[in-house]
Amino acid sequence: MEVLIIGGSGQIGQELCRLLESHQISFRAPARHELDIEDHRNVARLIEKWQPDVVVNTAGYRAAGKAQKEPSRCFSYNRDAVSNLADTCHKVGAALVQISSWRVFDGSKVDAYTEKDTPNPEGVLGNSFWQGEQQIHQRCPRHIILRLSWIISHLGRNRATKLLDNFSYPEAERALQTHINHRGCPTTAEDVARVLLAITQQIGCNTECWGTYHYSAAEPTDEFTLAEVIFAEASQFQDIPNERLHEDESEKAINACLDGRNLRNTFGIMPRPWRSAVARLVRNYFEEP
Ligand SMILES: NC(=O)c1ccc[n+]([C@@H]2O[C@H](COP(=O)([O-])OP(=O)(O)OC[C@H]3O[C@@H](n4cnc5c(N)ncnc54)[C@H](OP(=O)(O)O)[C@@H]3O)[C@@H](O)[C@H]2O)c1
Repeated sequence: MEVLIIGGSGQIGQELCRLLESHQISFRAPARHELDIEDHRNVARLIEKWQPDVVVNTAGYRAAGKAQKEPSRCFSYNRDAVSNLADTCHKVGAALVQISSWRVFDGSKVDAYTEKDTPNPEGVLGNSFWQGEQQIHQRCPRHIILRLSWIISHLGRNRATKLLDNFSYPEAERALQTHINHRGCPTTAEDVARVLLAITQQIGCNTECWGTYHYSAAEPTDEFTLAEVIFAEASQFQDIPNERLHEDESEKAINACLDGRNLRNTFGIMPRPWRSAVARLVRNYFEEP
């Protein structure tokens, strides 16, 4: 089996490359200058040349605030590039595994979202993910769309590193505002890579379970509790004044929790708790240069 990873230098991509290597699964992870998803002709040319069995696309636009200011860029990534990928994968007979997001929902549901819930995205980013998903449905029947909740990692920019960066610069004395009514399932990039590996292996075994799935780590939480847990771990490495962390209830409630039961029942992939992974994440953050 030959796997093509797009976005191999990202938070999820790096972890996936590491796992595929340790499982001795043959893969390519071209850098952006070699394969730019916005360059449709080159993407099609390279995929036709390389003939992968599975294409995993982890490259995507993910900054919600910025997306409102540059919608065409966001749609170019999450809809147009994805629709080109779907066409190309279908043409060469490759399966497409595409990362999507809880943002296809409006976040107003009380319980975790299931695949049966109707998307109702708010804002440019959510709409771009949802339109990208629809393009895949229309163009490439052999696909897996994997919707994720909050991604955390010791690498890159995410909820965990934003907090840790702030703790690490005590001169930034302002309090850290975290929203107690924003709920999600913090899922490490490493855990997402484990899920992508399991899906890829099953595609390699000719499992025909195409469609959209949700994955998120076990134990939904809120932004404030996540910050407290990270805070407690980080205090082993650095002195952090307690008063830095503040709960903010002023914003409207948002639920980013996803129900992964369908993935568990179909692929046998069990969710892992995020709390135990945070200790390692924080240690890696402080110990890896
Ligand atoms: N973070 C979250 O909370 C969250 C939640 C749900 C879903 N997601 C989605 O999950 C996916 C992966 O997230 P991530 O956190 O791993 O992202 P990331 O760390 O930002 O990595 C993105 C990767 O895509 C590459 N890339 C960017 N533009 C490209 C282009 N034009 N052509 C080819 N490659 C390009 C980047 O390469 P460079 O290194 O060259 O920039 C990088 O390797 C994204 O689609 C994101 O929207 C994220």
